[in-house]
Amino acid sequence: MDATYWNTRYADGRTGWDLGQLSPPLKVIIDAVTDKQAAILIPGAGSGYEVDYLLQQGFTDVTVIDLAPLAIDRLRERVGTAPGLTTLVGNFFDHQGQYDLILEQTFFCALDPTLREAYAQHMRTLLKPGGRVAGVLFATTFPFEGPPFGGSVAEYRTLFEPNFGAVRLEPCLLSVKPRLGSEVWVELTA
Ligand SMILES: C[S@@+](CC[C@H](N)C(=O)[O-])C[C@H]1O[C@@H](n2cnc3c(N)ncnc32)[C@H](O)[C@@H]1O
Repeated sequence: MDATYWNTRYADGRTGWDLGQLSPPLKVIIDAVTDKQAAILIPGAGSGYEVDYLLQQGFTDVTVIDLAPLAIDRLRERVGTAPGLTTLVGNFFDHQGQYDLILEQTFFCALDPTLREAYAQHMRTLLKPGGRVAGVLFATTFPFEGPPFGGSVAEYRTLFEPNFGAVRLEPCLLSVKPRLGSEVWVELTA
């Protein structure tokens, strides 16, 4: 799944993952961050509804990156420019930076599973000391060829525990209705 694949999905409106609004779990994560200057990254941001909320809440260091130019163009049109907002068309795996918080929602599951070890390692390199990846992951299997690609808590522990100082994976009770019961909270601390 390269940039053309994802861009075509946006162009054709085949974006079933797009909630049209900030999801409840990500709102809870953002609301718990007291440092408005925290450096925040949203990889595979898509429409990036988190951005609107982060800016409304006064966050001053927000970066989004997505492979699909159309997703980023639309996000830029909707949100406009803001001091401290960086919107990048590019590949997460090539991105360099240091973040306090990286938000995860339907990015991990969009990647070919052969990239999962690289995801874990690259996420780790992007975190400041004490920084964390936080969000939700699917803990279910899908009865079709992905994306999305599913997985299990046991698999995620095996993947993440060698790469992070602390790993939290717990059932998420705040998921939007279609995802309820199939998502877990994830928190990966450097
Ligand atoms: C399933 S969508 C999820 C979008 C968004 N997180 C959401 O919840 O609506 C996955 C997104 O990841 C992007 N993506 C896939 N591989 C990527 C990569 N290697 N680097 C950056 N973005 C990527 C796609 O373009 C797409 O926008």
